[in-house]
Amino acid sequence: MTTPNKVYLKDYTPPVFCVKKVDLDIRLYEDHAIVDATLTMKRLHEGLLVLFGRKLELQAIELNGKVLSGSDYTLDEEQLIIHHAPDDAIVRTLVKIIPHTNTELEGLYQAGTGMDAMFVTQCEPEGFRKITFYPDRPDVLAEFITRVEADKKYPTLLANGNLIEKGDLGDRHFAIWHDPTLKPSYLFACVIANLDVMQDTYTTCEGREVLLEIYATKQDLDKCHVAMQALKDSMKWDEDNYGCAYDLDRYMIVATGQFNMGAMENKGLNIFNTSCVLATPQTATDESIFRVKLVVAHEYFHNWTGNRVTCRDWFQLCLKEGLTVFREQGFSGDFRSKAVQRIEDVAFLKAHQFTEDAGPLAHPVRPESFVEINNFYTMTIYEKGAEIVRMIANLLGREKYRQGTDEYFRRHDGQAVTIEDFLSALSIGDERVLDFLAWYRQPGTPEVFGGFDINGNQVTINLSQKTRHVAGFDAPTALPIPVDTAIFDGESGELLAQKMLLLNKDADSFVFEDLPLNGVRPVISVLRNFSAPVKLNFEYSNEDLMKLVAFETEGFNRWQAVQTLINRLLLGESDDLSLLTDTLRTVIPTLMQDDPMLAARLFDIPSEQELAMAYEVNYDPSFVKAKRDELKKGIAAALSEVVGGWYQALPIVPYEDTPKARGQRLLRNVLLNLALAADLPQVKSWAYQQYDDASCMSERLGALSAMISFNLEKADVYVADFYDKFRDEELVIDSWFAVQARADVRDVAFIKSLMMRDDYDWNVPNRVRTTLNALAAKPTQLWSEEGLTLYFDALARLDAINPTVASRVLSQLGRWYTLDESRKAIVKEKLIALQGVAKSKNVLEFVNNMLNA
Ligand code: BES
Ligand code: ZN
Repeated sequence: MTTPNKVYLKDYTPPVFCVKKVDLDIRLYEDHAIVDATLTMKRLHEGLLVLFGRKLELQAIELNGKVLSGSDYTLDEEQLIIHHAPDDAIVRTLVKIIPHTNTELEGLYQAGTGMDAMFVTQCEPEGFRKITFYPDRPDVLAEFITRVEADKKYPTLLANGNLIEKGDLGDRHFAIWHDPTLKPSYLFACVIANLDVMQDTYTTCEGREVLLEIYATKQDLDKCHVAMQALKDSMKWDEDNYGCAYDLDRYMIVATGQFNMGAMENKGLNIFNTSCVLATPQTATDESIFRVKLVVAHEYFHNWTGNRVTCRDWFQLCLKEGLTVFREQGFSGDFRSKAVQRIEDVAFLKAHQFTEDAGPLAHPVRPESFVEINNFYTMTIYEKGAEIVRMIANLLGREKYRQGTDEYFRRHDGQAVTIEDFLSALSIGDERVLDFLAWYRQPGTPEVFGGFDINGNQVTINLSQKTRHVAGFDAPTALPIPVDTAIFDGESGELLAQKMLLLNKDADSFVFEDLPLNGVRPVISVLRNFSAPVKLNFEYSNEDLMKLVAFETEGFNRWQAVQTLINRLLLGESDDLSLLTDTLRTVIPTLMQDDPMLAARLFDIPSEQELAMAYEVNYDPSFVKAKRDELKKGIAAALSEVVGGWYQALPIVPYEDTPKARGQRLLRNVLLNLALAADLPQVKSWAYQQYDDASCMSERLGALSAMISFNLEKADVYVADFYDKFRDEELVIDSWFAVQARADVRDVAFIKSLMMRDDYDWNVPNRVRTTLNALAAKPTQLWSEEGLTLYFDALARLDAINPTVASRVLSQLGRWYTLDESRKAIVKEKLIALQGVAKSKNVLEFVNNMLNA
């Protein structure tokens, strides 16, 4: 059953020709660019010489120095086939492209306009074919020499590798770069711009002195310190933890305001969305600053996991992304409490990846087919992919995991490989690693059910697993599921036993013997630190959960216990709110001192999107929202005598970037919202005061968000003040859009009015996402007739401008089919209409999958 225009993993064949060397000459003019490329190729197998190319105007072509005529090759929309190619083929093409009107932000494109105009590339996954004809697939590795030529109004001319020459041509100039490392075309990059640069150096453990450069506009240059420090920290961390040192003399990062993703790991020349590189305490919240650090680390870590060892084909995307996310989570965890790091990663996984896995866009971590590869940069590939590596790393333990990754780099440096290669290298110390391949092949979130029996001094833990059967895939099989389990004394809270259980059948029992129980019911803690990405249904009583919060020594499961109780309250399985609020009242004061960030996170309530997952049919967004609002109010009321004091105990102090200070700021914002919900006397003035006295953006934006959410009289004044203060800071204005759009009290008409403003630029993905993501996070508004109209109108518009962004926006509607019949009918009608007007493969693939749900 092969559907046309679908690509299948099973159809993989190795490349017919390899490319020894690429000589690229990119010349930029006022309204177009000319790309002159010479590919030195060598035959590896029987077959045709095929070069991919999209939207290229072919102006000349030569083979081994001889000009080709139309009958020597075949050219269509997607590829160029050269007939009768000899085994040694030097192919030269001259093409014209128009970066100036490229709104897809893939290939070479213009970002910004006027004085700020610059030209940057985005090649992953298949953008290089929009620059020149090329065997644009990750398993073709070549040496690149890139000459970039442009008008002198663009003094910054960059490409991968080392600068080997610069030259003056009157009004124009050029630079020649040489990248000695063999790389796939998706890692190619060049930049033509007028940027300032921040420089620093780093000496690797191998003694190499590396020049570090971050390029940004003059106005933004002072916002690069956080990223620069993060880069140095990442370089050190990778040496210490994986034995990986940097391999070129230069590492460059370029910031652009127009970028589809967060950032891109091009060899030696990363290109970053400004939102992921520019940050100061005055212009970015703690979360944004933390994100800058982790994105810098992520892209840097790709130098080994992705660039030096790359993917054989795009089905293996998780090979680099899952592993690199896992590495980056480890790095981030070293800069704050481990518990908070894990809570954040798991909360994100549950809110986004579990939802994806539960809907019509569910797919295995290693997909077996796709129509548009851009649609597969998903939560499943990234986050579930990272969880699989984490399970393996935990199973192996520190030492064997390190042996395994050393072996992986030793075997595969300079190669394009598969998940099987990765698992094989990691399994040298423990063959059980190979069983984890099943996790890469099967979609759907496994559910684990469990309980326990007590018999004298013996406790038996009974576990079973079940994964839903996703249409179009084989029936699910049992997966290896590590379940980290601890047993605590039910009275003293003493830790009696701990073990990593491995459930690798449909059901199994695990016995703990000789426990000093003394007739007291123990407290069992399973899936500690979220040892596997599963939905857990364990027979905890509500009292067990609250004892867990008190006894657990592992912060993640303390948080999880509170979450489980909150879920029970929200789903009507429990109505005893006091159990929760009594616990919070007891634990918060101590935690406020020890780990204020964890204290803040204990107030987490699952998002409406996440709660919607409990429904397979007749999902009613208003009901879910009402339950959630009621719970928030209930918690605030029950804690009303204490929250004011807690808030006051956290006065604003001079800014510091430490885990404790960040935790205090987050907790202060959480408490401000609680105090407003409890309607404490004077509380409004606290909000205004916090804004006025703010030492940093987290405090300021936290206060503004609270003022808007609670409709305070002066909210509008502050909204205007914020805009005035930061009108020249694009990223801050993005938060200005987002903070308003996200507030429940701002309706669809209001969001629409934001989208009609002159400063709402449809060509800038960051700006577009502010309102659409906000709407998607408010299901009662999203799934209304008005909300859907706004959302689908935007989708149709984006489909024509930027298909990658459009299909990501669309993917947030995955679970539409769980709505009640009348709402479902509206969505269906709109999906069909979109199917009729959409042009991009990206949007069409998702619409089709969604309509088949
Ligand atoms: N390789 C990706 C960037 C990318 C993805 C480019 C898809 C083109 C298409 C990069 O390494 C990445 O994963 N970036 C993430 C951030 C990261 C911290 C998870 C992103 O851009 O969101
Ligand atoms: Zn990545």
